[in-house]
Amino acid sequence: MGSERKAQEGVYFYDYNLHQQDQKQEILHGLGQLPKRISAKYFYDQAGSELFEAITQLDEYYPTRTEIQLLQDYRQDIIQQAGENALLIEYGSGASTKIRLLLDALKPQAYVPLDISKDFLFESAIELRQQFPWLEIHATCLDYRQPATLPRHFSPHAKKVAFFPGSSLGNFSPEEALSFLNGVRATVGDNGALLIGVDLVKSHEVLNAAYNDSQGVTAEFNLNCLRHLNSLGQGNFNLDHFDHHAFFNAEQSRIEMHLISKYDQVVSLFNERLRFKQGEAIITEYSYKFDLEGFQQFVQRSGFQCEQYWTDENQYFALFWLKAV
Ligand code: AVI
Repeated sequence: MGSERKAQEGVYFYDYNLHQQDQKQEILHGLGQLPKRISAKYFYDQAGSELFEAITQLDEYYPTRTEIQLLQDYRQDIIQQAGENALLIEYGSGASTKIRLLLDALKPQAYVPLDISKDFLFESAIELRQQFPWLEIHATCLDYRQPATLPRHFSPHAKKVAFFPGSSLGNFSPEEALSFLNGVRATVGDNGALLIGVDLVKSHEVLNAAYNDSQGVTAEFNLNCLRHLNSLGQGNFNLDHFDHHAFFNAEQSRIEMHLISKYDQVVSLFNERLRFKQGEAIITEYSYKFDLEGFQQFVQRSGFQCEQYWTDENQYFALFWLKAV
């Protein structure tokens, strides 16, 4: 059961995140697998969300600025597709930066940002309301792989438009991506739509540089998930005992982010002892890259159809308008 409260005029907070016991099970289950895994959602504590915002500003990390340019260049088309007065639901809203480009013109009846990083989400909602004092905001903390829980007082007939920018779909496995899209399709209903940002396959140098930036911010972001686990499970991961490793796996069409144990070591977490061999990897993230044609075929399996898409001249990134069918 989640909690619900009104934070200030026009801003409501909801917390449907997993309970500590479930988090413990999920984390230990992942670290008990071979190879060991940590769900990418554990990147996003307060520090991780701030580091991710820093990544989006890096020269090497082209997705954010390319997507923002697309939102600016094709703003009119997008607004025409969405229409006014929709219920706008953003998956993984972070600092709600991109949606600001559309809000004045979209005039949604309410905005529902969904994010796993509670304090960051709630602070961003308060800040957003200052910039858009007319906007009703329902900030909902949850793992957005769960079905979205929408505020109760909205009519089931309100047109629902979902927004999933940043190519975060790429952080799911293909099966998870499909089940996520099915969930969004169920949430937006028969007259709903999804505006989704998708990172495209490109030269391996460009891809590898985006996840191995020269300032080491991505490395810090990757290692920070160990700090987050330490605080959740009274752990003693030593961040200096692991290395960041990221590379494009062309066969699987995905960036893989790993943390490599520098030594044979034993780490304590949730009162369990976890053994790591020197050179052993923990997989922390996959980031799948798509092609224009393949993506359109893929979404059809979830009850959406691509009605329009927009891409930059290098075809680095694409925005798709998917309509429920
Ligand atoms: C949030 N997600 C789409 C980012 C990505 O590119 O896969 C997360 C990220 N990982 C490293 N840099 C950025």
